[in-house]
Amino acid sequence: MTAPAGRPRPQAPALDLGALIEDRETRIVVCCGAGGVGKTTTSAALALAAAEAGRSVVVLTIDPARRLAQSLGLTELDNEPRRVDVPGAAGELHAMMLDMKRTFDDIVAAHSTPERAQAILDNPFYQTLSSSFSGTQEYMAMEKLGQLRASDQWDLIIVDTPPSRSALDFLDAPNRMSRFLDGTMIRLLMAPSRAGFKFASAGFLLFSRIVSKILGGQLLRDISAFVAALDTMFGGFRERATATYELLRRPGTSFVVVASPEPDALREASYFVDRLSADEMPLAGLVVNRTHPPATAALSATRAAAAAEEVLEAGGPDAPLAAAALRVHAERMTLAAREQHLADRFTSAHPEVAVRTVPAAAGDVHDLDGLRTMAAALTGADADTPTGTPRTRILPARRS
Ligand SMILES: Nc1ncnc2c1ncn2[C@@H]1O[C@H](COP(=O)(O)OP(=O)(O)O)[C@@H](O)[C@H]1O
Ligand SMILES: [Mg+2]
Repeated sequence: MTAPAGRPRPQAPALDLGALIEDRETRIVVCCGAGGVGKTTTSAALALAAAEAGRSVVVLTIDPARRLAQSLGLTELDNEPRRVDVPGAAGELHAMMLDMKRTFDDIVAAHSTPERAQAILDNPFYQTLSSSFSGTQEYMAMEKLGQLRASDQWDLIIVDTPPSRSALDFLDAPNRMSRFLDGTMIRLLMAPSRAGFKFASAGFLLFSRIVSKILGGQLLRDISAFVAALDTMFGGFRERATATYELLRRPGTSFVVVASPEPDALREASYFVDRLSADEMPLAGLVVNRTHPPATAALSATRAAAAAEEVLEAGGPDAPLAAAALRVHAERMTLAAREQHLADRFTSAHPEVAVRTVPAAAGDVHDLDGLRTMAAALTGADADTPTGTPRTRILPARRS
Protein backbone atom coordinates (compact mmCIF):
# COMPACT_ATOMS: atom_id res chain seq x y z
CA MET A 1 0.00 0.00 0.00
CA THR A 2 1.24 3.47 -0.69
CA ALA A 3 2.04 5.83 2.11
CA PRO A 4 0.92 9.44 2.00
CA ALA A 5 3.60 11.47 0.27
CA GLY A 6 6.41 12.69 2.50
CA ARG A 7 5.45 10.53 5.46
CA PRO A 8 7.00 7.07 5.38
CA ARG A 9 4.94 4.32 6.94
CA PRO A 10 6.28 3.14 10.28
CA GLN A 11 7.81 -0.27 9.68
CA ALA A 12 7.13 -2.89 12.35
CA PRO A 13 9.59 -5.77 12.73
CA ALA A 14 8.15 -8.98 11.24
CA LEU A 15 6.73 -11.46 13.74
CA ASP A 16 8.02 -14.94 12.93
CA LEU A 17 5.63 -17.26 14.74
CA GLY A 18 6.99 -20.26 12.83
CA ALA A 19 10.38 -19.77 14.46
CA LEU A 20 8.74 -19.17 17.84
CA ILE A 21 6.83 -22.45 17.95
CA GLU A 22 9.64 -24.49 16.43
CA ASP A 23 12.13 -23.19 18.98
CA ARG A 24 12.49 -25.93 21.61
CA GLU A 25 13.19 -23.28 24.21
CA THR A 26 9.62 -22.04 23.82
CA ARG A 27 7.54 -23.94 26.39
CA ILE A 28 4.46 -21.76 26.86
CA VAL A 29 2.68 -19.46 24.40
CA VAL A 30 -0.19 -17.36 25.75
CA CYS A 31 -2.63 -15.86 23.24
CA CYS A 32 -4.42 -12.82 24.61
CA GLY A 33 -6.42 -9.88 23.39
CA ALA A 34 -9.90 -8.37 23.40
CA GLY A 35 -13.01 -10.54 22.97
CA GLY A 36 -13.87 -11.98 19.58
CA VAL A 37 -10.58 -11.13 17.85
CA GLY A 38 -9.50 -14.71 17.18
CA LYS A 39 -7.60 -15.81 20.29
CA THR A 40 -9.08 -19.30 20.37
CA THR A 41 -8.60 -19.81 16.64
CA THR A 42 -5.03 -18.50 16.75
CA SER A 43 -4.19 -20.79 19.68
CA ALA A 44 -5.56 -23.84 17.90
CA ALA A 45 -3.86 -22.95 14.61
CA LEU A 46 -0.48 -22.40 16.28
CA ALA A 47 -0.86 -25.69 18.17
CA LEU A 48 -1.61 -27.54 14.94
CA ALA A 49 1.40 -25.96 13.23
CA ALA A 50 3.63 -26.87 16.18
CA ALA A 51 2.46 -30.51 16.12
CA GLU A 52 3.10 -30.66 12.38
CA ALA A 53 6.57 -29.25 13.02
CA GLY A 54 7.30 -32.16 15.32
CA ARG A 55 6.49 -30.82 18.76
CA SER A 56 4.42 -32.51 21.40
CA VAL A 57 1.90 -29.81 22.09
CA VAL A 58 -1.21 -29.30 24.17
CA VAL A 59 -3.60 -26.44 23.55
CA LEU A 60 -5.78 -25.24 26.40
CA THR A 61 -8.84 -23.70 24.77
CA ILE A 62 -11.53 -21.68 26.48
CA ASP A 63 -15.05 -21.60 25.10
CA PRO A 64 -14.15 -22.67 21.57
CA ALA A 65 -16.95 -22.31 19.04
CA ARG A 66 -18.85 -25.60 18.87
CA ARG A 67 -17.72 -26.65 15.40
CA LEU A 68 -14.09 -25.86 16.15
CA ALA A 69 -14.37 -27.88 19.37
CA GLN A 70 -15.79 -30.81 17.39
CA SER A 71 -12.99 -30.65 14.86
CA LEU A 72 -10.52 -30.92 17.75
CA GLY A 73 -12.42 -33.88 19.16
CA LEU A 74 -13.65 -31.84 22.11
CA THR A 75 -17.20 -33.02 22.15
CA GLU A 76 -17.56 -33.10 25.89
CA LEU A 77 -16.12 -31.10 28.73
CA ASP A 78 -13.90 -33.49 30.57
CA ASN A 79 -11.23 -31.03 31.52
CA GLU A 80 -8.37 -33.30 30.46
CA PRO A 81 -6.26 -33.11 27.29
CA ARG A 82 -7.29 -35.46 24.49
CA ARG A 83 -5.18 -36.49 21.57
CA VAL A 84 -6.28 -35.00 18.26
CA ASP A 85 -5.64 -37.16 15.23
CA VAL A 86 -3.56 -35.13 12.81
CA PRO A 87 -2.67 -37.40 9.88
CA GLY A 88 0.95 -37.10 8.89
CA ALA A 89 2.00 -34.83 11.75
CA ALA A 90 5.59 -35.30 12.91
CA GLY A 91 4.60 -34.42 16.48
CA GLU A 92 1.49 -34.77 18.61
CA LEU A 93 -1.46 -32.49 19.15
CA HIS A 94 -3.52 -32.65 22.32
CA ALA A 95 -6.39 -30.33 23.03
CA MET A 96 -8.54 -29.55 26.00
CA MET A 97 -11.34 -27.18 26.84
CA LEU A 98 -11.23 -25.51 30.23
CA ASP A 99 -14.01 -26.46 32.61
CA MET A 100 -13.56 -23.91 35.34
CA LYS A 101 -15.85 -25.57 37.87
CA ARG A 102 -14.18 -28.95 37.43
CA THR A 103 -10.76 -27.33 37.79
CA PHE A 104 -11.86 -25.64 41.01
CA ASP A 105 -13.40 -28.89 42.29
CA ASP A 106 -10.15 -30.72 41.55
CA ILE A 107 -8.15 -28.22 43.60
CA VAL A 108 -10.51 -28.71 46.51
CA ALA A 109 -10.32 -32.49 46.20
CA ALA A 110 -6.54 -32.47 45.92
CA HIS A 111 -6.09 -30.43 49.07
CA SER A 112 -8.43 -31.94 51.62
CA THR A 113 -9.87 -35.10 53.03
CA PRO A 114 -12.84 -36.56 51.17
CA GLU A 115 -15.35 -35.44 53.85
CA ARG A 116 -14.03 -31.92 53.99
CA ALA A 117 -13.97 -31.72 50.21
CA GLN A 118 -17.57 -32.84 50.06
CA ALA A 119 -18.61 -30.19 52.57
CA ILE A 120 -17.01 -27.51 50.43
CA LEU A 121 -18.41 -28.85 47.17
CA ASP A 122 -21.90 -28.86 48.70
CA ASN A 123 -21.57 -25.33 50.00
CA PRO A 124 -23.91 -23.01 48.07
CA PHE A 125 -21.45 -20.13 48.20
CA TYR A 126 -18.74 -22.35 46.77
CA GLN A 127 -21.08 -23.42 44.00
CA THR A 128 -21.73 -19.81 43.02
CA LEU A 129 -18.10 -18.83 43.27
CA SER A 130 -16.82 -21.79 41.26
CA SER A 131 -19.26 -21.39 38.43
CA SER A 132 -19.94 -17.71 38.03
CA PHE A 133 -17.74 -15.38 40.03
CA SER A 134 -16.15 -12.93 37.64
CA GLY A 135 -12.48 -13.74 37.52
CA THR A 136 -12.89 -17.43 38.34
CA GLN A 137 -12.35 -18.39 34.72
CA GLU A 138 -9.13 -16.40 34.48
CA TYR A 139 -7.91 -17.81 37.76
CA MET A 140 -8.72 -21.35 36.70
CA ALA A 141 -7.08 -20.88 33.30
CA MET A 142 -3.85 -20.00 35.10
CA GLU A 143 -4.34 -22.83 37.58
CA LYS A 144 -4.78 -25.30 34.71
CA LEU A 145 -1.72 -23.91 32.96
CA GLY A 146 0.24 -24.51 36.17
CA GLN A 147 -1.02 -28.11 36.31
CA LEU A 148 -0.19 -28.81 32.66
CA ARG A 149 3.28 -27.36 33.10
CA ALA A 150 3.88 -29.34 36.29
CA SER A 151 2.90 -32.62 34.64
CA ASP A 152 5.71 -32.08 32.13
CA GLN A 153 4.04 -34.29 29.51
CA TRP A 154 4.27 -31.80 26.67
CA ASP A 155 7.13 -29.77 25.38
CA LEU A 156 4.86 -26.91 24.34
CA ILE A 157 1.70 -25.56 25.96
CA ILE A 158 -0.43 -23.07 24.07
CA VAL A 159 -2.93 -21.18 26.18
CA ASP A 160 -6.03 -19.44 24.97
CA THR A 161 -7.41 -16.80 27.37
CA PRO A 162 -10.99 -16.21 28.56
CA PRO A 163 -13.38 -13.95 26.67
CA SER A 164 -12.98 -11.19 29.25
CA ARG A 165 -14.11 -7.66 28.83
CA SER A 166 -10.51 -6.62 29.02
CA ALA A 167 -7.41 -8.57 28.05
CA LEU A 168 -5.81 -7.35 31.27
CA ASP A 169 -8.30 -9.40 33.28
CA PHE A 170 -6.29 -12.51 32.55
CA LEU A 171 -3.34 -11.02 34.42
CA ASP A 172 -5.36 -9.24 37.09
CA ALA A 173 -8.12 -11.65 38.02
CA PRO A 174 -6.05 -14.26 39.87
CA ASN A 175 -4.66 -11.65 42.18
CA ARG A 176 -8.02 -10.02 42.65
CA MET A 177 -9.63 -13.34 43.39
CA SER A 178 -6.94 -14.45 45.82
CA ARG A 179 -7.23 -11.11 47.60
CA PHE A 180 -10.94 -11.68 47.83
CA LEU A 181 -10.55 -15.19 49.20
CA ASP A 182 -7.68 -14.39 51.52
CA GLY A 183 -9.10 -11.02 52.11
CA THR A 184 -9.78 -8.76 54.97
CA MET A 185 -13.38 -8.29 53.94
CA ILE A 186 -14.19 -11.95 54.35
CA ARG A 187 -12.18 -12.25 57.52
CA LEU A 188 -14.12 -9.38 59.02
CA LEU A 189 -17.40 -10.86 57.94
CA MET A 190 -16.69 -14.22 59.43
CA ALA A 191 -14.94 -12.94 62.53
CA PRO A 192 -17.98 -12.66 64.82
CA SER A 193 -18.82 -16.27 64.19
CA ARG A 194 -15.44 -17.38 65.44
CA ALA A 195 -15.48 -18.42 69.07
CA GLY A 196 -13.33 -16.26 71.30
CA PHE A 197 -13.22 -13.29 68.96
CA LYS A 198 -12.29 -10.39 71.21
CA PHE A 199 -12.53 -7.34 69.08
CA ALA A 200 -16.13 -7.46 67.98
CA SER A 201 -16.99 -3.95 68.98
CA ALA A 202 -20.59 -2.82 69.03
CA GLY A 203 -19.89 -0.85 65.85
CA PHE A 204 -18.48 -3.85 64.09
CA LEU A 205 -21.33 -6.08 65.15
CA LEU A 206 -23.73 -3.51 63.75
CA PHE A 207 -21.75 -3.43 60.49
CA SER A 208 -21.78 -7.17 60.28
CA ARG A 209 -25.52 -7.26 60.98
CA ILE A 210 -26.14 -4.76 58.17
CA VAL A 211 -23.99 -6.71 55.74
CA SER A 212 -25.74 -9.86 56.73
CA LYS A 213 -29.08 -8.19 56.08
CA ILE A 214 -27.97 -7.15 52.61
CA LEU A 215 -26.30 -10.40 51.67
CA GLY A 216 -28.66 -12.63 53.59
CA GLY A 217 -27.67 -14.42 56.78
CA GLN A 218 -27.53 -17.82 55.15
CA LEU A 219 -25.14 -16.66 52.43
CA LEU A 220 -22.91 -15.10 55.04
CA ARG A 221 -22.83 -18.34 57.01
CA ASP A 222 -22.05 -20.23 53.80
CA ILE A 223 -19.19 -17.86 53.02
CA SER A 224 -17.85 -18.16 56.53
CA ALA A 225 -17.95 -21.93 56.48
CA PHE A 226 -16.35 -22.00 53.05
CA VAL A 227 -13.51 -19.66 53.93
CA ALA A 228 -12.88 -21.43 57.23
CA ALA A 229 -12.63 -24.72 55.38
CA LEU A 230 -10.34 -23.30 52.72
CA ASP A 231 -8.20 -21.61 55.29
CA THR A 232 -7.18 -24.82 56.96
CA MET A 233 -6.30 -26.72 53.83
CA PHE A 234 -4.84 -24.39 51.26
CA GLY A 235 -1.84 -22.50 52.46
CA GLY A 236 -3.39 -19.51 50.78
CA PHE A 237 -4.86 -18.69 47.46
CA ARG A 238 -2.51 -15.79 47.22
CA GLU A 239 0.53 -18.06 47.15
CA ARG A 240 -0.99 -20.21 44.43
CA ALA A 241 -1.81 -17.14 42.38
CA THR A 242 1.70 -15.81 42.82
CA ALA A 243 3.23 -19.13 41.79
CA THR A 244 1.24 -19.35 38.55
CA TYR A 245 1.91 -15.70 37.83
CA GLU A 246 5.64 -16.32 38.16
CA LEU A 247 5.33 -19.10 35.59
CA LEU A 248 4.37 -16.47 33.06
CA ARG A 249 7.59 -14.56 33.61
CA ARG A 250 9.91 -17.52 33.21
CA PRO A 251 12.14 -17.77 30.17
CA GLY A 252 10.37 -20.02 27.69
CA THR A 253 7.05 -18.20 28.02
CA SER A 254 5.89 -15.90 25.22
CA PHE A 255 2.81 -13.77 24.84
CA VAL A 256 1.13 -13.33 21.50
CA VAL A 257 -1.32 -10.44 21.50
CA VAL A 258 -4.17 -10.82 19.03
CA ALA A 259 -6.26 -7.90 17.74
CA SER A 260 -8.62 -7.24 14.90
CA PRO A 261 -7.88 -4.20 12.73
CA GLU A 262 -10.36 -2.13 14.76
CA PRO A 263 -9.70 0.85 17.02
CA ASP A 264 -11.02 -0.82 20.21
CA ALA A 265 -9.14 -4.07 19.75
CA LEU A 266 -5.88 -2.28 18.92
CA ARG A 267 -6.30 0.04 21.90
CA GLU A 268 -6.76 -3.02 24.10
CA ALA A 269 -3.65 -4.55 22.52
CA SER A 270 -1.78 -1.34 23.32
CA TYR A 271 -2.73 -1.50 27.00
CA PHE A 272 -1.76 -5.12 27.14
CA VAL A 273 1.64 -4.56 25.53
CA ASP A 274 2.38 -1.80 28.04
CA ARG A 275 1.32 -4.00 30.90
CA LEU A 276 3.49 -6.93 29.79
CA SER A 277 6.47 -4.66 29.59
CA ALA A 278 5.74 -3.17 33.02
CA ASP A 279 5.48 -6.69 34.48
CA GLU A 280 8.57 -7.88 32.60
CA MET A 281 6.68 -10.54 30.72
CA PRO A 282 8.04 -11.54 27.31
CA LEU A 283 6.04 -10.38 24.32
CA ALA A 284 6.52 -12.18 21.01
CA GLY A 285 4.42 -9.69 19.11
CA LEU A 286 1.06 -8.66 17.74
CA VAL A 287 -1.17 -10.57 15.35
CA VAL A 288 -3.57 -8.33 13.45
CA ASN A 289 -6.21 -10.87 12.51
CA ARG A 290 -8.94 -10.73 9.86
CA THR A 291 -7.53 -8.02 7.68
CA HIS A 292 -8.88 -7.34 4.19
CA PRO A 293 -6.04 -6.91 1.75
CA PRO A 294 -7.25 -5.91 -1.73
CA ALA A 295 -6.75 -8.28 -4.67
CA THR A 296 -4.47 -5.72 -6.25
CA ALA A 297 -3.12 -2.39 -5.09
CA ALA A 298 -2.42 -1.34 -8.67
CA LEU A 299 -5.78 0.38 -8.99
CA SER A 300 -6.50 3.01 -6.34
CA ALA A 301 -9.89 3.46 -4.68
CA THR A 302 -10.40 6.83 -6.34
CA ARG A 303 -9.51 5.55 -9.79
CA ALA A 304 -11.66 2.44 -9.38
CA ALA A 305 -14.65 4.56 -8.33
CA ALA A 306 -14.11 6.93 -11.25
CA ALA A 307 -13.73 4.01 -13.64
CA ALA A 308 -17.03 2.56 -12.39
CA GLU A 309 -18.79 5.81 -13.38
CA GLU A 310 -17.10 5.87 -16.79
CA VAL A 311 -18.02 2.26 -17.50
CA LEU A 312 -21.66 2.98 -16.66
CA GLU A 313 -21.72 6.07 -18.86
CA ALA A 314 -20.24 4.13 -21.76
CA GLY A 315 -23.08 1.62 -21.36
CA GLY A 316 -23.25 -1.86 -22.88
CA PRO A 317 -24.56 -5.19 -21.55
CA ASP A 318 -21.61 -5.86 -19.23
CA ALA A 319 -21.41 -2.34 -17.84
CA PRO A 320 -23.43 -2.87 -14.60
CA LEU A 321 -21.40 -5.92 -13.60
CA ALA A 322 -18.06 -4.29 -14.41
CA ALA A 323 -19.09 -1.17 -12.50
CA ALA A 324 -20.12 -3.27 -9.49
CA ALA A 325 -16.76 -5.09 -9.51
CA LEU A 326 -14.92 -1.77 -9.65
CA ARG A 327 -16.97 -0.42 -6.77
CA VAL A 328 -16.27 -3.52 -4.66
CA HIS A 329 -12.58 -3.01 -5.37
CA ALA A 330 -12.83 0.66 -4.40
CA GLU A 331 -14.47 -0.31 -1.10
CA ARG A 332 -11.83 -2.96 -0.39
CA MET A 333 -9.08 -0.44 -1.07
CA THR A 334 -10.66 2.04 1.31
CA LEU A 335 -11.13 -0.61 4.00
CA ALA A 336 -7.55 -1.84 3.54
CA ALA A 337 -6.23 1.70 3.83
CA ARG A 338 -8.21 2.23 7.02
CA GLU A 339 -6.90 -1.03 8.50
CA GLN A 340 -3.36 -0.17 7.49
CA HIS A 341 -3.72 3.25 9.07
CA LEU A 342 -4.84 1.68 12.37
CA ALA A 343 -1.96 -0.81 12.31
CA ASP A 344 0.49 1.99 11.54
CA ARG A 345 -0.84 3.98 14.46
CA PHE A 346 -0.14 1.01 16.74
CA THR A 347 3.38 0.69 15.33
CA SER A 348 4.06 4.40 15.75
CA ALA A 349 3.22 4.01 19.44
CA HIS A 350 5.09 0.69 19.80
CA PRO A 351 7.81 0.66 17.15
CA GLU A 352 9.61 -2.28 18.79
CA VAL A 353 6.63 -4.67 18.68
CA ALA A 354 6.82 -7.28 15.90
CA VAL A 355 3.63 -7.59 13.86
CA ARG A 356 2.01 -10.19 11.66
CA THR A 357 -1.18 -9.63 9.69
CA VAL A 358 -3.56 -12.49 8.94
CA PRO A 359 -6.17 -11.97 6.22
CA ALA A 360 -9.80 -12.86 6.92
CA ALA A 361 -10.71 -16.28 5.61
CA ALA A 362 -13.84 -16.54 3.47
CA GLY A 363 -15.80 -18.29 6.22
CA ASP A 364 -15.42 -19.26 9.85
CA VAL A 365 -12.42 -21.34 10.82
CA HIS A 366 -13.92 -24.54 12.14
CA ASP A 367 -11.95 -27.55 10.92
CA LEU A 368 -8.38 -28.79 10.64
CA ASP A 369 -8.11 -27.55 7.06
CA GLY A 370 -9.26 -24.09 8.09
CA LEU A 371 -6.79 -24.13 10.96
CA ARG A 372 -4.02 -25.20 8.59
CA THR A 373 -4.75 -22.25 6.30
CA MET A 374 -4.78 -19.93 9.29
CA ALA A 375 -1.53 -21.49 10.58
CA ALA A 376 0.12 -20.88 7.21
CA ALA A 377 -0.91 -17.23 7.37
CA LEU A 378 0.38 -16.99 10.94
CA THR A 379 3.71 -18.73 10.42
CA GLY A 380 4.43 -19.02 6.72
CA ALA A 381 6.75 -17.02 4.57
CA ASP A 382 3.97 -16.48 2.06
CA ALA A 383 2.33 -13.59 3.86
CA ASP A 384 2.85 -9.91 3.20
CA THR A 385 6.01 -9.74 5.25
CA PRO A 386 7.88 -6.67 4.14
CA THR A 387 11.20 -7.59 2.59
CA GLY A 388 14.35 -6.38 4.21
CA THR A 389 12.91 -6.38 7.72
CA PRO A 390 14.66 -8.48 10.31
CA ARG A 391 13.34 -11.96 11.07
CA THR A 392 11.84 -12.61 14.48
CA ARG A 393 13.02 -10.64 17.36
CA ILE A 394 11.54 -11.85 20.59
CA LEU A 395 11.93 -8.83 22.71
CA PRO A 396 13.02 -9.13 26.26
CA ALA A 397 10.62 -7.21 28.44
CA ARG A 398 11.51 -3.59 28.72
CA ARG A 399 12.97 -2.81 32.11
CA SER A 400 11.37 0.16 33.70
N1 LIG B 1 -8.61 -15.09 10.09
C1 LIG B 1 -9.91 -15.40 10.23
N2 LIG B 1 -10.72 -15.48 9.16
C2 LIG B 1 -12.02 -15.77 9.27
N3 LIG B 1 -12.64 -16.02 10.43
C3 LIG B 1 -11.90 -15.96 11.55
C4 LIG B 1 -10.51 -15.66 11.53
N4 LIG B 1 -10.06 -15.67 12.80
C5 LIG B 1 -11.11 -15.97 13.58
N5 LIG B 1 -12.22 -16.15 12.84
C6 LIG B 1 -13.58 -16.46 13.32
O1 LIG B 1 -13.96 -15.42 14.21
C7 LIG B 1 -14.76 -15.93 15.27
C8 LIG B 1 -14.15 -15.53 16.60
O2 LIG B 1 -12.90 -16.17 16.74
P1 LIG B 1 -12.40 -16.73 18.14
O3 LIG B 1 -11.08 -17.39 17.90
O4 LIG B 1 -13.45 -17.56 18.80
O5 LIG B 1 -12.20 -15.36 18.93
P2 LIG B 1 -11.88 -15.13 20.47
O6 LIG B 1 -11.37 -16.42 21.03
O7 LIG B 1 -10.85 -14.05 20.50
O8 LIG B 1 -13.16 -14.68 21.11
C9 LIG B 1 -14.85 -17.44 15.05
O9 LIG B 1 -16.05 -17.72 14.43
C10 LIG B 1 -13.68 -17.73 14.11
O10 LIG B 1 -13.94 -18.85 13.26
MG1 LIG C 1 -12.20 -17.53 22.64
